Amino acid sequence: VSRPVDVSVAVRRARHEDWLGVEPLLREVDTLHAELAPGYFRTGARAEIEWRRLLGDATAAAWVVPDGAAGTLGFLSLRIYETPPEPTMVPRRRAHLETLVVATRARRQGIGRRLVAAAADWARRQGAVEMVLTTWAGNAAADAFYERLGYRVLSRVLHAVI
Ligand SMILES: CC(C)(COP(=O)(O)OP(=O)(O)OC[C@H]1O[C@@H](n2cnc3c(N)ncnc32)[C@H](O)[C@@H]1OP(=O)(O)O)[C@@H](O)C(=O)NCCC(=O)NCCS
Repeated sequence: VSRPVDVSVAVRRARHEDWLGVEPLLREVDTLHAELAPGYFRTGARAEIEWRRLLGDATAAAWVVPDGAAGTLGFLSLRIYETPPEPTMVPRRRAHLETLVVATRARRQGIGRRLVAAAADWARRQGAVEMVLTTWAGNAAADAFYERLGYRVLSRVLHAVI
C-alpha cells in the first residue's frame, strides 16, 4: 500500500536515530550498484557501526529527508577532501558526494535536488569550491539528474577484463 508522500518535510542533518530509516535506502542503492557493476559491488548487510562512524567523522556530513513516520525519503552523504600537496595539482578543497538515494516511491518530486542543494550550501560554507562524484555506467536516472543540475563529466574510468 503506497502512502502519499509529504515532500513539504524539510531536508535536515542526519542523526543517530535515522539509521532505521536510512538502512532500507542504502539497500536500494547497494542493489542498484550490484546490478550495474557486479564485478565491484554486491549486496550485504550494512552495519550500524559504519553509520555511527560516518556521523562522528568531522570531515563527513549527512542529510536526510524524513517522511514524518520514522521513515526516510532521501539520504545524502559527502566527505570534504583537500588536494594532496602535489606540485602538479591545483590546491582546492572539494566535497565528494559519496551516497545519494531517494526512495523509489518518492522520486521525481525534487527531493534529490533539495538534498544536493543543502549539501552544496554546507560544503561551500566549509570552504569547498566544487562537488565531485562518481556515477556507474548504465545509471541513466543519475546521469539525467546530475546533468540537469549542471554537473559535467570530468574524467572517464576505463576497464578491461584481462
Ligand atoms: C538519482 C536520484 C537520486 C534522483 O532523485 P530524485 O529525487 O528523483 O530527483 P529530482 O526529483 O530532484 O529530479 C530533479 C531533476 O533531475 C532530472 N531527473 C531525475 N530523475 C530522472 C530520471 N529518472 N530520468 C530523467 N531525468 C531525471 C529531471 O530533470 C528532474 O526534474 P523534473 O522531475 O522536474 O523533470 C534517484 O533517481 C535515485 O535515488 N536513484 C537511485 C540511486 C542513485 O542512482 N543515486 C545516485 C548515484 S550514487
